[in-house]
Amino acid sequence: MRRLIAAATRRFEHSIMASAQPLRSPRTVVFVGLMGVGKTCIGRRLAQRLELPFIDADKEIEEAAGCTIPEIFERHGEKYFREGERRVILRLLDNPVHVLSTGGGAFMDPQTRTRIHERAISVWLRADLDLMLRRVSRRSDRPLLQVADPRAKLEELMALRYPVYEEADITVDSIDGPPDVTVGRVLEALEAHLKESDPGAAIGLGAQWAAR
Ligand code: S3P
Repeated sequence: MRRLIAAATRRFEHSIMASAQPLRSPRTVVFVGLMGVGKTCIGRRLAQRLELPFIDADKEIEEAAGCTIPEIFERHGEKYFREGERRVILRLLDNPVHVLSTGGGAFMDPQTRTRIHERAISVWLRADLDLMLRRVSRRSDRPLLQVADPRAKLEELMALRYPVYEEADITVDSIDGPPDVTVGRVLEALEAHLKESDPGAAIGLGAQWAAR
């Protein structure tokens, strides 16, 4: 009898947890990290779970420029791209709370980084070199990787950028598996961060994120 009551109580508690409000982020959540870690895929799914709009900074840059990123690099060079990237991201950070995925070089810009620190919560999505390589090799629209040895290029970028990505508020390892597992990790890390930095702001129960 006691066991039956305990099981019913657990079911009741579980149903309360399942209907709890989603985690509420008081700030925009910005994904940073190298090419191929899955910022757009994970960002889009996270936005759904947080019930927030999702914005992809690279797409916004292309729309603002009226051409693709490879075309911007080809016609105007990387410096021009970086200036546009900074302008677009600073503008996007003025938008109401949303989930923003940024291109791998965006966080390297000091002004962009400072504004992200002021206005948003940054999540460094990190992945294995082999995993990144596998993912980036599916597409040819990343000018920095149109080189003879993309592995060496990624290694060079890791050495250069990891010390800066480390400044992000949260670091999450992206796994080679169902994206929802990585999204669950981000949600848990985000909730822990919010509880630590602003205990009144986060609503939600961590366990449900992993289970859903
Ligand atoms: C870049 C990453 C790309 C894009 C551009 C430059 C970089 O975005 O912004 O090709 O410097 O790492 P993703 O990280 O989304 O591939």
